[in-house]
Amino acid sequence: MSDFLSAYSIQNWLESCPQGYLVDTEYGHGIGEKEAESLLENATLREESIRTTVQLVVGERCALAASSGLINAAPDYPSKRFLATQTLDEARHVEIFTQRLYDLGVKKSELQATIDQLADPNLVRFAEVLLEKIDKKDFVSGVVGQNIVLEGMAFSVFEMLHATTVGANPKFAHTLAGTIADERRHVGFGENRIGALIREFPEKKPEIEQMQKDMTYHMLATFSASFMRAGRAMEEGRKLAQELGESDTQPASWHGQNLQTATPQEMEAVLADTVLKEFKTRLARIGLEYQTPVAA
Ligand SMILES: [Fe+2]
Ligand SMILES: [Fe+2]
Repeated sequence: MSDFLSAYSIQNWLESCPQGYLVDTEYGHGIGEKEAESLLENATLREESIRTTVQLVVGERCALAASSGLINAAPDYPSKRFLATQTLDEARHVEIFTQRLYDLGVKKSELQATIDQLADPNLVRFAEVLLEKIDKKDFVSGVVGQNIVLEGMAFSVFEMLHATTVGANPKFAHTLAGTIADERRHVGFGENRIGALIREFPEKKPEIEQMQKDMTYHMLATFSASFMRAGRAMEEGRKLAQELGESDTQPASWHGQNLQTATPQEMEAVLADTVLKEFKTRLARIGLEYQTPVAA
């Protein structure tokens, strides 16, 4: 437990995060960095960016509710302290993605209406499945749902968004980079803390596996809906990236999929594959077997 204590201590968090990779940032990006004018001027791209960012806010609000709720459910102080740092991370994520909505032109008075209108219903349901466990103060299920499933998903989604925007939109890519670093820490906590608890309470396995199955179903449905409408924005984004001549910084591929030529269906498939592979590996490490959802 001593490695666990220092790796997830508040001291370590201070040194690596606020005094580390967040030094000299505002809202997660470089000071003074702005969204590209060409993105703001392109209605298709701006709308799709708002829609995508709304899903990030919905996911991060869920993570904020979950991590703060888990503090009082945690059975030990090292976990409570770590979850307190995670709570601040998630509140920061809510703030920086909300700020991005404002940067993209959403009026403050229309924030909640925009979120209500654009939030994917399956993502909302995904969050509800997790928050039901948090409401019951079910620590083991809550940590698996949050730190393995929700954050495993977020981690890969952020990485994919980072790969596809780093050339044309360094501001957003920087915002994502700090978030990815945070999520890596959160996922690590889930794996390190929960394996022992699952061995201690094997009778909880079926319930946790059912939750993972339900969350996975809603996640895959969310991916499918968002890529179904992303075709035009993907085309416009590629055109814009070419115009901006960002080919030096833009990676050519992500997990083997060519980012210049992939269809929305191919991007959906590579994202789903990547996330599910991560789930399988991480669940196996904590002694659980991945459950395939029925209709996905
Ligand atoms: Fe987060
Ligand atoms: Fe997180």
